[in-house]
Amino acid sequence: MQNIDLSPFLENHSWSFPVPIEYGLGRIKEIGHFCLTKNCRRPLVVTDRGSADLPYINKLIDSLTKAGLDSDLFFNVSPNPRDIEIENGRSLFLSGEHDGVIAIGGGSGLDAGKAIGLTANNSYNLWDFEYERTSPPIAECDFPILICIPTTAGTGAETESTAMLTDTVDQVKRCIWHPNFKPALALLDPKLTINLPSHLTAWTGVDALTHAIEAYSVPDLHPLCDSIALQGMELVYYCLPKVYSDPNNISARGGMLVGSCLSGIAFLKGLGLAHAISHMIGALYDTHHGLTNAVLLSSVVRFNASVLEKKIPKMASAIGLEDHSPERFFTQLENLMIELEIPKNLLDIGVPSGCAQQVAELAVRDSAASTNPREVTVPQIAAVVNSLL
Ligand SMILES: [Fe+2]
Repeated sequence: MQNIDLSPFLENHSWSFPVPIEYGLGRIKEIGHFCLTKNCRRPLVVTDRGSADLPYINKLIDSLTKAGLDSDLFFNVSPNPRDIEIENGRSLFLSGEHDGVIAIGGGSGLDAGKAIGLTANNSYNLWDFEYERTSPPIAECDFPILICIPTTAGTGAETESTAMLTDTVDQVKRCIWHPNFKPALALLDPKLTINLPSHLTAWTGVDALTHAIEAYSVPDLHPLCDSIALQGMELVYYCLPKVYSDPNNISARGGMLVGSCLSGIAFLKGLGLAHAISHMIGALYDTHHGLTNAVLLSSVVRFNASVLEKKIPKMASAIGLEDHSPERFFTQLENLMIELEIPKNLLDIGVPSGCAQQVAELAVRDSAASTNPREVTVPQIAAVVNSLL
């Protein structure tokens, strides 16, 4: 594999595509200043229960206070955020007369913050923003300012408004968004990821890799997203083993955070079967999203291989392989999972045997299934799930 120079990840950078992005070590301390530049004076900080007591939340609130800004913290958010939690957050946004949302955390904190922002200033129901539906008219939405700060290098959800939430009535995960609701700023600070435990570093990192692989595999021609997916794949594949074995490698942490962001931008094009299955298993059994993808990824790529003849060599090249054959690519993915100590089957992460049919019936309707490169049926999805039980 070629060496990638990671020294640029020790410096500050400002990018403006696809939304304003500020990158740099320790830049969480500038959040008060950033809010002022975006004309946000009463932000609601949204994170998940597991992150509420972490030091970076104090640093964030400190910076807001020093900038003279009033804020509230909403953290009653589950690892797989639920619709009723979003309604509670919306109530706090309104009662606190907030004008912006700072969504900070892993996938759940960002998803919850974005969902609260989507519904904060309008009378639409959460599910009116479901991905498959016609979006509510922008003139009736009045979205607040949104700032996204990822604390894991995985979700890649910091540059757009899509959020995965659990529908507690139907017990499925649904994707909500609005094409005109964009973060005013994504703040990428690698220092926020430095204390992430090894297993979460691995699980969230493989989620990012899955985003890149599934986005690139979506059959639509999308030169922008395809190029970004390959760049994200290269960075994540190169940096993930480094941060797993050496959590304090800050330049590799930076590479992971940027790679994750790129992979997140790429999946504006769509995702695939690993995510379709993972969304439903997460909703039914509350499994970790990245870990579930990690268990599924190799099997799904093998399942799709027959329609990826032209793309597998380019992906193999992106991860530094000289042999571009499909089998070499699959083996390399499987070796990475072993190196990251990912369990080999779904039973080991708490998914019960006998669930494949139910999971398949739900997953086939997930929006990610519709962009999978190979058309899928319920029996085919059940077979993939069963092969991992
Ligand atoms: Fe994901």
